[in-house]
Amino acid sequence: MKGGLLLAAFLAATVAVLPGCSTPEESGIEIVFSAGNDPSGATEALVAEYNAAHPGVTVKFQPMPANTDTQHDSYVTILSAHGTTIDLYSLDVIWTAEFAKAGWIAPLPEGFIAPEEFLEGPLASLTYEGVLYGVPWFTDAGVLYYRKDLLEEAGIPVPETWDEFRHACLEVALPRGMDGFVWQGARYEGLICDYLEFLWGLGGSIEFDRIENNPAAVEDDLAAAIELALSFFADGISAESVLTYKEEDSRRLFTEGHALFHRNWPYAWSMAEGEESKVRGLVGIAPLPHADGETGYSTIGGWNVAVSSYTEHPEEALEFLAFITNERALKLRAIEGGYLPTRNATYEDPDVLAANPHFGSFFEVFKNTRNRPRSPHYPRVSDVIQEHVHAALAREIAPDAAAAAIVSELAEIANR
Ligand code: GLC
Repeated sequence: MKGGLLLAAFLAATVAVLPGCSTPEESGIEIVFSAGNDPSGATEALVAEYNAAHPGVTVKFQPMPANTDTQHDSYVTILSAHGTTIDLYSLDVIWTAEFAKAGWIAPLPEGFIAPEEFLEGPLASLTYEGVLYGVPWFTDAGVLYYRKDLLEEAGIPVPETWDEFRHACLEVALPRGMDGFVWQGARYEGLICDYLEFLWGLGGSIEFDRIENNPAAVEDDLAAAIELALSFFADGISAESVLTYKEEDSRRLFTEGHALFHRNWPYAWSMAEGEESKVRGLVGIAPLPHADGETGYSTIGGWNVAVSSYTEHPEEALEFLAFITNERALKLRAIEGGYLPTRNATYEDPDVLAANPHFGSFFEVFKNTRNRPRSPHYPRVSDVIQEHVHAALAREIAPDAAAAAIVSELAEIANR
């Protein structure tokens, strides 16, 4: 198996690091790996380790702003011009169809990975028309973080429904002058993830075939989810400034101790437990709330790594791909950064579990997860939802008008 051979080659090279080997400047091979900034430093450490073990090749880690839309747009600019400046891209799970259809990312060589070693969902996110386009790197799902200490002190159980949630906010957060709920409401991809969780937890959905068969029902669902979010503002549970928050804005407020509840991805756990956190040891995790009689669902996210179709160094790029997605790399990123591994075995690693005792509770959350709509036109789909939901939350248009606009524009995209 090619992946195994590459890995073996890497291990052999690791033991054969010789001082005084030719420098990358001499050999001239530089590989650029572009991915979202990793505040834990684990990715940089891995790259440095790889470089030390591979005289003759230098991998340059190009950290990108964590915002997925910014990364998307920069990559599209480079790739649509067949740019060669980046050899390996870390891709959001929602981009595979678009990038693969455009021919921007290279199909993974047959046998490069053993699919049974990986979680099914992330692997499926990388498959387009039956072809695998990269290797899963880490997986994500929306999580509700809460202040365990404050709920316990008030004798209030962890809320399961939105009514219980609202009650907890009004009883515990507001009298203390804290925010009840911080989440991602800026006009960007993160809003889609949070909004879909509101929608699904109310029993709603937004599949393309349902839009075609029952547009009025989808409109009702979409408007109800907007109403739910508006009620957080009306009740003073969320500040209007949520409409400018991305992940890190809300995360900072929570780890500074200013909020009772926080919706974010798993990475926020290590930040809450980090040295600078004011809520260390005080945080619990739970599935997202739902309406009475419904089920809460988390949006599936995550990031994969793929090789550019335009790389001038495909072999070296593949070799690094095998390294950055191998068990050790996933383990280090799980331990240092709390990134959820995509390899089954990493979940059984005692060091990983010792550093992340909460991984067990994540499984509770991950029982009910859903994907965003899958389409090669996903950026347009996302843009339509972002635009109208954000305008409705900012009270520029009524919830039902926003819902009607989303349904009619998505129907148009589906018919393209
Ligand atoms: C996280 C998720 C990604 C999602 C993004 C939205 O990075 O892993 O899938 O699109 O957040 O902000």
